Amino acid sequence: MPLMDEQRIQQAVEILSQGGLVAIPTETVYGLAANAWNEEACHEIFALKRRPPSNPLIVHVAQRGRLGDAVALPLPDKMEQRLAAVADLWPGPLTLVLPRNPRLPRIVTAGQESVAVRIPSHPVALKLLACCPFPLAAPSANRSTGVSPTQAEHVRDEFGGDAPLVLEGGDCRCGLESTIVTLLEDEPRLLRFGAMPAEFLAHRWGISLDVLLREAAPSEGERGSNTVVPGQLKIHYAPRTAVWLLDDAPPVDRRRGRWGRICFHDPTDREREEYAELCVISRDDDSTEIAGRLFAALRELDHLHLEGIVVDKCAEIGLGRAIMDRLRRASANRSTS
Ligand code: TXA
Ligand code: MG
Repeated sequence: MPLMDEQRIQQAVEILSQGGLVAIPTETVYGLAANAWNEEACHEIFALKRRPPSNPLIVHVAQRGRLGDAVALPLPDKMEQRLAAVADLWPGPLTLVLPRNPRLPRIVTAGQESVAVRIPSHPVALKLLACCPFPLAAPSANRSTGVSPTQAEHVRDEFGGDAPLVLEGGDCRCGLESTIVTLLEDEPRLLRFGAMPAEFLAHRWGISLDVLLREAAPSEGERGSNTVVPGQLKIHYAPRTAVWLLDDAPPVDRRRGRWGRICFHDPTDREREEYAELCVISRDDDSTEIAGRLFAALRELDHLHLEGIVVDKCAEIGLGRAIMDRLRRASANRSTS
């Protein structure tokens, strides 16, 4: 790691140790990090993001050996087995919901007895975590309901003069948030589609996709509670400009304003003519490429004061499930704006 980065990391450790915030790169999206054991610091995350206190934070640890910093150990046998079956996917874009270590302040878990935890796979995040004697609570580094940042520049854009120190880590490799799965039930249940494909996880646990993707059974405790189900706010990942999925879009006419288009293929001559701004993020519907560039493309077009942004659709398998999930939520801003 270059000396410059080392110095920055030391600076970040100091800020975090004193209860401050630092934006950090991960392989999924940039996170807004604080010492997860420091209640005041975690308050700052909610304040800066304008995040409702009912929406809990993900806690990041440096390695398996430090899972206990966030999670109540030892785990019950079955949970331990479920964890062992995916242990090699860490560091990586998988977040698991496990019983919380009571050392975590209530605010981190929004009062729940569980905690969402992961080991990120980015050299800067891992180095920082290894240097901190505490775990890091870090939601995506954007205002609540906005588009997650996949470049350091996005974070500075998002928070302007209020931006904390941003550790530079280049473009996020995945470009979509981690997949979240709870291990607190009889079988693992997916809470948020993400960069780790659901099919792959179901295979690892030897369960069917239907089981992994089943609806939550309303439990006594949950009924009437107002805890936000992860990543499931209907309007989320939404730019200010109205977003349309291709099949739902109104006829685009240059005479009625400038429209933007995000293409997952080489645009046709007609498409080139119709749209004032074209952003081709894949030439052949490659879901890895689409995931990697989607949020940056939405941000870029959002700056151009367009009438609307029309986005291609992709097949809902593997990563495509997370891509379509984000696009549906991004397009939900139309009804309210
Ligand atoms: O890829 C990611 O997961 C990024 C990077 C920075 O790690 N983080 C991220 O955090 O996307 P955030 O806060 O934007 O989304 C975290 C989601 C929220 O929807 C929250 O509801 C859910 O995780 N969550 C957190 N704690 C939970 C818990 N104890 N039980 C269920 N869901 C939880
Ligand atoms: Mg987020």
